[in-house]
Amino acid sequence: METVVSGIRSTGNLHLGNYFGAVKNFLKMQHENRCFFFIADYHSLTTHPTPEDLHGNVRQILSEYLACGIDPDVATVFIQSDVPEVTELYLLLNMNAYLGELERTTSFKEKARKQPNNVNAGLLTYPVLMAADIIIHKATKVPVGKDQEQNLEMTRRFARRFNNMYKVDLFPEPTAYNFGEELIKIPGLDGSGKMGKSEGNAIYLTDDPAVIRKKVMRAVTDSGPTRENQEMSEPVRNLFTIMKVISSEETYNHFLEEYNKARIRYGDMKKQLAEDIIRFTTPIRERVEEIRNDNEYLRKVVRQGAEKARESASKTLREAREIIGFKPF
Ligand code: TYM
Repeated sequence: METVVSGIRSTGNLHLGNYFGAVKNFLKMQHENRCFFFIADYHSLTTHPTPEDLHGNVRQILSEYLACGIDPDVATVFIQSDVPEVTELYLLLNMNAYLGELERTTSFKEKARKQPNNVNAGLLTYPVLMAADIIIHKATKVPVGKDQEQNLEMTRRFARRFNNMYKVDLFPEPTAYNFGEELIKIPGLDGSGKMGKSEGNAIYLTDDPAVIRKKVMRAVTDSGPTRENQEMSEPVRNLFTIMKVISSEETYNHFLEEYNKARIRYGDMKKQLAEDIIRFTTPIRERVEEIRNDNEYLRKVVRQGAEKARESASKTLREAREIIGFKPF
């Protein structure tokens, strides 16, 4: 049995990248493993949400996760800020995290470029908080998309450093996980790069069918293959990548063959892709609406989750404190 921790920042809604990068794996794992799933609301503070946005986003994302099928009676589902032990471990880990390595992190450099007027210390130490989230439950597997690979590397480094420094074996070194396969990167619809909330190229699980059709029909392609088995351009390869996770194998193979025979009509492919996305997201979208407004249910879920998460977290924190040398008089 593995201990699994996965999380999401509470900014923006869930998109197909989040679903196929992280949630789907988690859904497969939750029944056989010790699983924790949380909403990283402290992490979202690095971009300064208003108080209303902060709370609304947490409610929305929580509802979306539950609608996807994460079962709070099986997995531990909680809000990061309900577990203060995480922030204490974060503080302790910060003492052994060095400026140089934090400044070199790709995600930090990217964020610093995107928000030059708000390069705060929280952004710099983002990977340390993420490490605390993960190792406080002694996780061994972390279902995430490819973009989190470097953060997981940092997590292993901080865990190893603590173990070495105190000559203990407290924290396992967790690995990013996608069922023995390569970590996945769902591309956006704009021709290049990953699907992301800040990139403006995402399809959200709660998008209306009309919005989905419009977004897919507008996706970037090229002028079409002129000979058989022509290598695909990046925008077209991206469309196929999305189709591969959403549509049936038969549909995917059909359009691949059309492409390879140089007779594909991208319009037909997009129409089919849009309908397959709609078929996939509609039941989720409908459940989100029900769950979002059920305050009593949500309250019960987060209360129960916080209790279970704190039990696990406080045990590890107690061990870490003692190892470092905090002793009662
Ligand atoms: P976040 O909120 O950006 O994304 C949540 C999850 O979705 C995955 N993901 C993708 N996967 C494939 N293709 C894409 N286009 C795509 N876009 C997003 C991400 O890899 C991630 O798994 N730092 C994390 C949140 C976090 C966390 C943690 C995750 C905080 N603490 C501890 C795991 C464990 C983040 O910003 O993810």
